[in-house]
Amino acid sequence: MNILLLGSGGREHALAWKMSQSNKVDKLYIAPGNGGTLTVGENVAISATDFPAIKKFVLEKNINMVVVGPEDPLVKGVYDFFVEDPELKNIPVIGPSKEGAQLEGSKDFAKAFMMRHNIPTARYKSFSASTLEEGCKFLEELQAPYVLKADGLAAGKGVLIINDLAEAKQELKNMLDGKFGDASATVVIEEFLSGIECSVFVLTDGNDYKILPVAKDYKRIGEGDTGLNTGGMGAVSPVPFADKTFMKKVEERIVIPTIEGLKKENICYKGFIFLGLINVKNEPMVIEYNVRMGDPETEAVMLRIKSDLVDLFEGVATNSLGTKTLIEDERAAVTVMMVSGGYPEAYEKGKEITGLENVQNSIVFHAGTQMKDGKLVTSGGRVLSVSSYGKDKEAALAQSFQNVQKINFDKKYFRSDIGKDLK
Ligand code: AMP
Ligand code: GLY
Repeated sequence: MNILLLGSGGREHALAWKMSQSNKVDKLYIAPGNGGTLTVGENVAISATDFPAIKKFVLEKNINMVVVGPEDPLVKGVYDFFVEDPELKNIPVIGPSKEGAQLEGSKDFAKAFMMRHNIPTARYKSFSASTLEEGCKFLEELQAPYVLKADGLAAGKGVLIINDLAEAKQELKNMLDGKFGDASATVVIEEFLSGIECSVFVLTDGNDYKILPVAKDYKRIGEGDTGLNTGGMGAVSPVPFADKTFMKKVEERIVIPTIEGLKKENICYKGFIFLGLINVKNEPMVIEYNVRMGDPETEAVMLRIKSDLVDLFEGVATNSLGTKTLIEDERAAVTVMMVSGGYPEAYEKGKEITGLENVQNSIVFHAGTQMKDGKLVTSGGRVLSVSSYGKDKEAALAQSFQNVQKINFDKKYFRSDIGKDLK
């Protein structure tokens, strides 16, 4: 079959790499893709949110399935666009409906959903400009630190964690006054939870589900998890504390109620559910839902799936995921992200990348690269991720680290401590 994958990051390269190994695939296209995806498929110069252009391409190339990488097209309703179009309605889209995508598109929606279905999460209340005073009172009821979240998508920047009460009140006002534009017209204030986070990925056809290998990502720029937040500096899978007992709780208290809740509310959901969890004294609680795979978690998780991913997607498309098997690779996987010096603040682009041909026993996924005049150059903050297997996470990290040193571009930076905090 012919597949179109939407997106352009490291996550999409990892998904494309995995899908390209399936003997069910004739042609794999990536829109718009990057300098790495063109090694496993064909890049198409179409934006992932340009639905009319996607339609034209899908019909022209006889696409049989569309897989959606990022949240943006999902929140904008790409699933519904296909279902509602007579010419497209029989082409399955792997990703939730616009309504389902609200689990990520609106924190208020997600929190209310969790409340309705008794899914463990931090206590919260939502406020708008007309209830600013109540918001300030609610802050007074909570203990520091205070967690303020813009309701809508804010490019990963919409969550503020503040120690001082007066400052938290001021930020609440700033957010309601438009600090994050429309995204913060509503603000969710919630109780701070203390624990270690992990990412659990579920693939569902709306009825059955598969829980994919668990991962943990590293968001801060500096070693030892210090400094500014980034899009992710690396990831490890599996996560030692997410053992059988913990995962049984996750499945019973979170995965099943989420899928049953979606069903009960008639919300069409055929795709990935990303549970951002926090382990509070061995009890899993939901920090957030996302409606896609994580980045850079995907760059580790894809290594740990032995089954044919396209076969699993077919299960999603035909409501037969329950008949499919998911086989995990027992080995550990670690991915180390190589970023442009200066990131996540100002950085330069267009630096030539060399040494990729010397990489051995690792898989390099491109995040922000581009072919320019026959040369591979940097085109973003996160540039490349180096993913490796190992008998354990230490061995996998050592392998990635060895190859990270063989790849060069001006002002490259990476963290060498991915996974080291975990026992
Ligand atoms: P979110 O976008 O909701 O995932 O929030 C971004 C990050 O803020 C999370 O990955 C956590 O590290 C942190 N965070 C969010 N909510 C809480 C909370 N209730 N308690 C502690 N940390 C939180
Ligand atoms: N790595 C976290 C995310 O993709 O949102």
